This record gives sequence, structure tokens and C-alpha cells, in this order.
Amino acid sequence: METIFSGIQPSGTPTIGNYIGAIKQFINLQNDYKCYFCVVDEHAITVPQAPLELRQQTLSLAALYLAVGLNPKKATIFIQSEVSAHAEAAWIIQCNTTIGELERMTQFKDKSQKNGRTGVSAGLLTYPPLMVGDIVLYNANLVPVGDDQKQHLELTRDFVERFNKRYSQPNQEILTMPEVKIAEHGSRVMSLQEPTKKMSKSDPNKKAFISMLDEPDIIRKKIKSAVTDSTGIIEYDPENKPGISNLLSIFSAVTDFTIDDLVLKYNGQGYGVFKADLAEAIVDLLLPIQTRYNELLHSDELDVILDEGAQVARLVANKTLQRMKNGIGLGRKPRKRK
Ligand code: TYM
Repeated sequence: METIFSGIQPSGTPTIGNYIGAIKQFINLQNDYKCYFCVVDEHAITVPQAPLELRQQTLSLAALYLAVGLNPKKATIFIQSEVSAHAEAAWIIQCNTTIGELERMTQFKDKSQKNGRTGVSAGLLTYPPLMVGDIVLYNANLVPVGDDQKQHLELTRDFVERFNKRYSQPNQEILTMPEVKIAEHGSRVMSLQEPTKKMSKSDPNKKAFISMLDEPDIIRKKIKSAVTDSTGIIEYDPENKPGISNLLSIFSAVTDFTIDDLVLKYNGQGYGVFKADLAEAIVDLLLPIQTRYNELLHSDELDVILDEGAQVARLVANKTLQRMKNGIGLGRKPRKRK
């Protein structure tokens, strides 16, 4: 059985962008793959986080994983910082990655441009190696992510090739080469306010995204105020009509309708009706998830699942880490005791 690894940062409540681009894929994949789904809290601290909020968001994301239907009997669900192999592997990976490679990452370029290079943490630059570690520690074959993570996956593949070449024995590769898995539709859900920009959970403008925990009336308001254009014609044309095209993608992703179905269904109806129906479709999707989430949060069940998840994860991750250390020559040679 092939292995899947994916993670989400607890840097805010996941948006429907995270849901459509990543989480929705996880739910189906857990039936056919050995899956590891991680709350990557060590990634979140590349930018300042309030300690209490970080803890709360970490637990909240874990509860959401379960509430959407991830099944701990099928998938290992855990918190990154509870498995210390991640931070250890990240160090080894950083020492086998060049600064040039990291400075080329668009996410680093964007964020460091906004805040000035000297004003961002070193972790913001070296965070892709932490992500590489997440993936390789579990010998993942496939990594389901949204479009914005493609470049990090390319970096991972380059790293695996280099590391295996440098340190593996012939025919005994230390690390598994992963493939990226991008959703066919909705791999880049756009902001509701600036539809040429990616929807992001850390956007300071709350109207730009729908969080998975937004209340129905908030969802209705946010969809109503989503930026479209003045033509009033519902058609899919991301280049010229990014707003309505984004709403069509979201509508299609949260229902069984294709974009063509929706264009036909709402032909000549104007944006008002379309938006009202879209808001209800999102509410219908999220309400049952929110109910289950509220039952799970602060439950003993959640703690037990995360304890067990971390235990399983540690076993697998430590094995890979030991193989990496052996390859490099860190520590003493493992010897069989008499
Ligand atoms: P993060 O937390 O920013 O996002 C989590 C997942 O959601 C996807 N995503 C989107 N998909 C569609 N439209 C959007 N607007 C949108 N915004 C986000 C992301 O592509 C991602 O799949 N570095 C990662 C987390 C990570 C990870 C990993 C992922 C850490 N280690 C190992 C996979 C494997 C991140 O910051 O995702």
C-alpha cells in the first residue's frame, strides 16, 4: 500500500480554500492509502504567534481533521511538535540544501518582500527543509496539496535525489521519492475580495475568506459581498472575470455540479440568486462539520487519538531519521549487541 503525507499549519482556522485544495482530497484518499495527516505547528512559528492562541488553533485543527471525516482507524493524525524527529531531520536537510535554493522559493520572496528581509525570521527561509522532513520521514509516495505548495514539492524531490546519491548504498535508497498530488479542480481558490490573489487563512481582511468555522450568517454576508464584475453574466473566464469564475469553482467543489452545469443552471439569472444559492451550499457543507467539531473539541477522545497518532508517527519517523543519520555518519555505528 502506498503512503500519503500531508499537513496544514495551525496559523488560523482553515478556509474553504484549504478544504477544497487539500482536506477534501484527504477524505477520499484515506480509504486507499496509508495516510499521515499532521497539524504542522512548527511551521506556524516561522511568523510570530501568541502562545495560547497557537495551542488553541492546533487543537482546533486536529478536531477539524476528525470532524470532516478523517478516521483515526484508517489514518494517523498527529501534531508535528510532538514528534521530535521532524526538527532533527530538518537540521540535516538544511545542511544539505543551499541558501540559493531557499531564496528562490516564491513564498519566501513574497513574505520577505512585504516585511523586509531583515525583519523576517531565519525560519521563514529554512521552513521548506522542515516540510521536506515531514514528507521523507514517513516515506511518503504521494503528497496531496494545493497549487501553492508545488514548488516546495519540487524542492523535496531535488533533495531526495541529492541525498540518496550522496549517502545511499547501491540499491538501498535511504529516502523515498514523493510525487505531488494536486486536486483536479479548486487547487487554487482565490480571495473573495481580490480574486486575483490566493485565498489565505492569515489574510487580515476577514471578508476575503470563508473559514470552516464561520457561522451561516457570516458565510451569507461574505459571499454576498464577494467581488464580481458589472456584467451580471455567469460564465467561467478566470482571466477576464476572476471573481465570478472563482465563485463558480467554489460552487462546483462544494456540490456535485460541474462548472458547465452551473453556468447552464444560472444562465440569465444574475449574480444575486447565484450568490444566495452558493452561500446555502457552503452552509450545507459546513454545518454538520461544525456540529461534530464542537462535540470533539476538548473531548477526551481527541486527546487519545492525538496521543496514539504521535506514538505511531514517532516509530516510523525515528526509523527513517536513524537511516539518515547512518547514511551521513552521525553518531556511532549501530552495532548488534551480543
Ligand atoms: P497551508 O497551511 O498554507 O495550507 C494547507 C493546505 O491547503 C492548501 N491551500 C489551498 N488550496 C487551494 N486554494 C487555496 N487558496 C489554498 N490555500 C492553501 C495548501 O496548498 C496546502 O495543501 N507548508 C504547508 C504545510 C505543510 C505540508 C507539509 C504540506 C507542512 N509540511 C508536508 C504537505 C506536506 C502550508 O503552509 O500549507
